[in-house]
Amino acid sequence: MSWFPEKRIQDSWIHKICSGILKSGPVPRHIAIIMDGNRRYAKKNSMERAEGHLQGFNKLAETLEWCLNLGIVEVTVYAFSIENFKRSKDEVDCLMELARQKFARLLEEKDMIQKHEVCVRVLGNISLLPIDIQRTVAEVVNMSKNNTKATLNVCFSYTSRDEICQSIKEIAEGVERGEILESDISEELIEKCLYTNQSCDPDLLIRTSGEVRLSDFLLWQSAFSVLSFIEVLWPDFSIWHLYAAVLHYQRNHDAVTKAKEENNETREIIQKEIDRDCVIKLSQQQSCDLCSLSNHDNNTIFCDHKCQNENIHAYSLARQKRVDNFVNNLKCRRDSFLQNLLVPQK
Ligand code: FPP
Ligand code: MG
Repeated sequence: MSWFPEKRIQDSWIHKICSGILKSGPVPRHIAIIMDGNRRYAKKNSMERAEGHLQGFNKLAETLEWCLNLGIVEVTVYAFSIENFKRSKDEVDCLMELARQKFARLLEEKDMIQKHEVCVRVLGNISLLPIDIQRTVAEVVNMSKNNTKATLNVCFSYTSRDEICQSIKEIAEGVERGEILESDISEELIEKCLYTNQSCDPDLLIRTSGEVRLSDFLLWQSAFSVLSFIEVLWPDFSIWHLYAAVLHYQRNHDAVTKAKEENNETREIIQKEIDRDCVIKLSQQQSCDLCSLSNHDNNTIFCDHKCQNENIHAYSLARQKRVDNFVNNLKCRRDSFLQNLLVPQK
């Protein structure tokens, strides 16, 4: 099946009415989905596991259309966890083959991808995948990278804790190389080093199959997401389940928005305090050369309040520049990893 199914149930009058009603409220910008229950679905319907996973893919293609139609412009799906490598060889091979075919199909459907302006990203520890899949992934990402209307993030060979570890390692190496300071480490910096750094956090996270855990998926990013655990096996997921999840999001929207705003305010305050402490430490180490006066009142060296604020402001700008350079270098390293995969093999 294609990534662009021909069956468009959302065009029927009933779905036009339902989506119209939902669109009159806040619609999540970004949803994340744990597509769980493919094997149970296969067992229930006396099918091979491979068929269950294929039906799971078909459901994904349908769901992406429904999302786009509702105005959900970013979708992140958990397609293969690093933990899934522990499944039987037969099943891992089957999932790899499905990925091989479906990523290749994306390349064949390039015109549709460009027409709908969909940016496809594959998030995870790509180097754990067979090299031919790595190359196809690089082609898919490269082909769609400038598209801005909608985004599909496929988490493949991914776990959240692995993503956070990679991010911390990059930061530790950055400190060791002297590109950033230990005091530059913040929630914001960690976020900028996650694979999801180009996305806003998911507003709504859906898990099917009745399991009520996150299974190492977007643990950092879902801190303020509305969670929706649905008692349906993924291949049986319907547009009605999606409507119900969006409605659940709308009911919780105000509380979540308030919590997010409070968190952003707290972050800003903490960052200002860190910058202030850094300036005080610096000025204690060396006499304040940003201002000619030195007034050692209360252990601080600032001449006056105005001068103190100017120093903190200057420090904050320098910190931001340091962090931006570091993040930019990291992005270049990650881009060049993908670019190297695009080099034709002799
Ligand atoms: C979880 O169900 C599903 C998976 C591990 C695979 C999900 C993959 C797809 C839906 C195909 C997507 C493919 C691409 C290329 C994007 P499960 O196997 O854990 O089933 P169970 O919970 O019933 O055991
Ligand atoms: Mg499962």
